[in-house]
Amino acid sequence: MIIRDAEPGDETRWRQLWAGYNAYQEAVVPDAVTAATWKRVLDPAVPMFIRMAVLDRKVAGFALCVLHEGSWVAGPICYLEDLFVDPAARRRGIARALLEDLMALGKSRGWSRLYWHADGGNENARKLYDSFVPADKFVRYRLSLG
Ligand SMILES: CC(C)(COP(=O)(O)OP(=O)(O)OC[C@H]1O[C@@H](n2cnc3c(N)ncnc32)[C@H](O)[C@@H]1OP(=O)(O)O)[C@@H](O)C(=O)NCCC(=O)NCCS
Repeated sequence: MIIRDAEPGDETRWRQLWAGYNAYQEAVVPDAVTAATWKRVLDPAVPMFIRMAVLDRKVAGFALCVLHEGSWVAGPICYLEDLFVDPAARRRGIARALLEDLMALGKSRGWSRLYWHADGGNENARKLYDSFVPADKFVRYRLSLG
């Protein structure tokens, strides 16, 4: 398995996986937003990026992250916003490898922290996450502004 940054040629395949992820999340992301997300991911001036997992020369999963500042730490914080593995390639360690890749990347680049949210009822994902670190006590408040 190879894990690497997204490249312009990944767009079609990423959009397939993104559609699967949105269906799983029961989310409707307008096409203009998806297009803007892809554009931002490829723009080195925007602190949003995707790590692609390539298995048998096919992109089989991705982790989309945003780097941001934090008041409690000096180095950047990495927010893992979206994690998805092609259903045909699951249980082969791809999600675990994507998380380990982010940890290694963060250590080499001086990030202070990696964090993510989980659906409390997503037992499969939580089993994976719990093997890295226990969940903390915080809950999420989310106010739509537009
Ligand atoms: C959750 C998801 C990312 C896991 O991807 P994956 O590549 O299959 O995961 P891995 O093979 O790295 O599995 C790692 C561990 O997760 C747990 N796990 C993952 N899928 C599981 C399943 N179907 N049943 C039971 N445990 C599971 C296991 O503990 C597994 O370790 P093991 O194989 O040594 O037992 C994938 O199922 C997915 O994309 N789901 C839909 C999107 C999603 O839920 N994203 C996360 C949002 S919070």
